[in-house]
Amino acid sequence: MCGIVGYIGTKKASPILINGLIRLEYRGYDSAGISTIEKEELSIMKDKGRVKNLYHLKGIDDLTGTIGIAHTRWATHGKPSKENSHPHMDNSKTFSVVHNGIIENYNELRNFLTDNGYIFYSQTDTEVIPNLVHYYYEKDEKTDNLRFLRAVKNACSDLKGSFAIEIICKDYPDNMIVTRKDSPLVIGKGENENYISSDIPAILSFTRNFYLLNDFELVVLSRNNVVFYDKDLNPIEKDTKTIEWNASSAEKDGYEDFMLKEIYEQPTAIRETIGAKFNEETKCEFDELNFTKEYLSSLNKIYIVACGTAMYAGLAGKNAIEKLCKIPTEVDVASEFRYRDPLVDDKTLCIFISQSGETADTIAALKLCKEKGAKTLAISNVIGSSITREADYSIYTHAGPEIAVASTKAYTSQVILITILSIYFAEILDIECEKVSLLKRDILQLPKKIEETLKLSEVIEEFSKKVYQEKDIFFLGRGIDEAVAKEASLKLKEISYIHSESYPAGELKHGPIALIENDITVISIMTDNTLVEKTISNIQEVITRGAKTLVITNQNVDEDMFDRIIKIPETNPFVSPILSIIPLQLFSYYISKEKGLDVDKPRNLAKSVTVE
Ligand code: M6R
Repeated sequence: MCGIVGYIGTKKASPILINGLIRLEYRGYDSAGISTIEKEELSIMKDKGRVKNLYHLKGIDDLTGTIGIAHTRWATHGKPSKENSHPHMDNSKTFSVVHNGIIENYNELRNFLTDNGYIFYSQTDTEVIPNLVHYYYEKDEKTDNLRFLRAVKNACSDLKGSFAIEIICKDYPDNMIVTRKDSPLVIGKGENENYISSDIPAILSFTRNFYLLNDFELVVLSRNNVVFYDKDLNPIEKDTKTIEWNASSAEKDGYEDFMLKEIYEQPTAIRETIGAKFNEETKCEFDELNFTKEYLSSLNKIYIVACGTAMYAGLAGKNAIEKLCKIPTEVDVASEFRYRDPLVDDKTLCIFISQSGETADTIAALKLCKEKGAKTLAISNVIGSSITREADYSIYTHAGPEIAVASTKAYTSQVILITILSIYFAEILDIECEKVSLLKRDILQLPKKIEETLKLSEVIEEFSKKVYQEKDIFFLGRGIDEAVAKEASLKLKEISYIHSESYPAGELKHGPIALIENDITVISIMTDNTLVEKTISNIQEVITRGAKTLVITNQNVDEDMFDRIIKIPETNPFVSPILSIIPLQLFSYYISKEKGLDVDKPRNLAKSVTVE
């Protein structure tokens, strides 16, 4: 939530900052702003609404400063408005700050600063930061070149909550200071210039060399240098990491929207995530993991914890781990899990799934499991993301950057990776079964079958045009298809704003069937041959009550029974969600387009949920 960018170099900062903000806009789009140092004074230009509004601000083209910070906001404290937009300055106009996160004790700090004569002009929690820095700056009697750094360090020691902060100071026009706690921030190293961003894709076109920052570390950036300090201001050494993603992977590449591009990238994402080493003949291996038979046999339970779509991918993981490895596996929403005193101990393995690796609730749940003595394993799409740095073990999906708020290729990559993880466990446990070798064969055939499934696009677009004005749409499924129904329903809600529900097909008659009335659209997923008959009976129940039915299936069923049937390729039930979700991703996409909505940036949402 919220995106921040920074630049210090020899070029004009403002176009670089605005370009970075445009790429980070999926993190929040309530307001945008930039601050640069112009002729030894701080300048701030900001406005409510989208980043593009900055282009129309008077004087924006006249900015020549080569150091600057920028912000795109997802509002938490204070409504979206110009005065609540970042950057924020202190009263003396010496410091300018952008912040991503929430300062939980801002009221207490605000009262303290008010008592010390400071005045506040916004309703944000952020405005305490520049004023607090100023408070410590003024109290410092030394005027050496570390005064700015000491003031930031002292201010940050008073902050509770989460923050990624960039600060510039008019007295230090050749330095920028950044720090973080529980909110993402990366530093991109260039030639005579350095970049800051909330995430890697936003600045990939400038550099592939990144420094990753741990909580409470402070960084002083100049044009030629990046100096790191720990929280007590002891200097520390860091190496850069080279990121393999290429710059075009963060571009639309001729597609109308990132979401559509990402849907079509799924064959590649799945191929890359399966990896070149995976084959039918040899045992699965993960370079990053060293689990033993003794450890896996000692487990009382596996927990899979995540949020949103990542949690639905976890349901596919539960299905595979329980069926292949016979280890009891529970899936939970991170925001609930962490507050319900979960039964976790050193005999529990806790797996956390997060595309961004920055989701606050998922990270907090991971920390809790570590405290309780469990081993923790993160599945993320972002190398070096916070979650991977907290976990005992990390493995990666190789989906490439996912920019659209609605997750598509990350979901299918998570499903494949956790399925391969369950094969890895089964092989360590010496579970000899035909199921495992068949599954391996079917996994290798998946990319081709995804390509085939994508060819259904036109039929789906045509169906979407018929139902885009509906008020409610229901999704049904049994077994693993129910997990897909949940994900399909979430996708539809978030980008089309159509009310939608998903139910286990057999549960309908216990209440929800009361909602079924004439002409309502009910979409059913039916890929498990052991459950087809039962699901068909449930669909009949809604047809009898006047529902229009769409069925996504790989089974041979009587097509005349339903209003519309979409046949997808047959595959192994463990990985069927990867194929059955594709028509439903496209369905949500086309409905959203038909309604003229912003597919990539749905209202009220942000890609990376770094607040709890
Ligand atoms: O980055 P994460 O995987 O941790 O994000 C989790 C959810 O916020 C995310 O999957 C969200 O539900 C998506 N917008 C769904 O499309």
